[in-house]
Amino acid sequence: MTPKSQGGAPGERVPIWDLPIRLFHWLLVADLAGLWWTATHDNLALHFKLGYAALALLLFRLFWGVMGSDQARFARFLKGPAAVLRHVRHLATPGPLPPQRGHNALGGWAVVMLLLVLLAQVGTGLFAVDDDGMEEGPLAHRVSASVAKLARRLHHANFSLIQVVVAVHVMAVLFYLVVKRENLVRPMVTGWKRLTFLPGADVREGARNADRHGWVPLWRAGLLAAIAAGLVAGLVVFA
Ligand code: HEM
Ligand code: HEM
Repeated sequence: MTPKSQGGAPGERVPIWDLPIRLFHWLLVADLAGLWWTATHDNLALHFKLGYAALALLLFRLFWGVMGSDQARFARFLKGPAAVLRHVRHLATPGPLPPQRGHNALGGWAVVMLLLVLLAQVGTGLFAVDDDGMEEGPLAHRVSASVAKLARRLHHANFSLIQVVVAVHVMAVLFYLVVKRENLVRPMVTGWKRLTFLPGADVREGARNADRHGWVPLWRAGLLAAIAAGLVAGLVVFA
């Protein structure tokens, strides 16, 4: 279903994450598991393929952040320091959060952080050479051996950073569930959420957060995914 209405009255079931975002998220999680497994089990051929898939997913997410559904757009969820501080204050105050349709002001920046560390991982991988010099990323031959080795070291170091950022991400989701009684996972699975104003929540802010549009047609995601895949294929073929 592709809901177009704006909606947002208390108790109403509203669209949050469209199919492209949900596919992006869970494919990315599976892909990262595969990337970790192939890297630690010396299967670099498959590691490269999964790495290209990660690049295509990330490119798609960047496109979707500009041309996708309302909740997915960077311009919609990247807010200034005042909004971030307001959210932090809500987090620190006991009681429920105002209803939120999409990323909150802090979560929005966490998304940027996740995307940046993942892009850095793919970027360094493309230029990296493995320890015995037998396997190299498709762009490694365009740089000197010392730069390719540096890329490998950064690729290793940045993976530790990814583990920290992902751990914080999952802990944040658990915090919202356990402490704030807000289930963020269900919308990331089903796409939908019921806007509930729990007693004590900031109703005015909730109404502001609820002011969102619905999902755009899926063909647009298909087209952007094809462009992302085409760009990655072009990079691999013409590197
Ligand atoms: C490799 C591990 C993971 C990565 C790289 C990752 C990455 C991301 C990214 C990039 C987003 C932003 C979605 C977007 O707007 O595009 C996101 C959101 C989200 N992720 Fe993950 N994720 C991971 C694991 C998980 C796990 C295990 C869970 C479940 C416990 C989870 C639950 C969520 C939820 C609920 C959101 C939406 C948060 C909100 O409502 O603002 N993620 N994740
Ligand atoms: C988000 C995407 C990626 C993740 C999470 C990832 C993760 C990893 C990890 C964990 C390692 C092993 C580090 C260690 O042994 O301590 C590794 C090694 C490596 N990766 Fe990636 N990688 C990604 C993307 C890529 C891409 C796109 C390429 C190139 C096309 C690539 C090329 C390599 C190479 C050449 C090595 C070196 C193996 C060695 O040191 O012997 N990676 N990667």
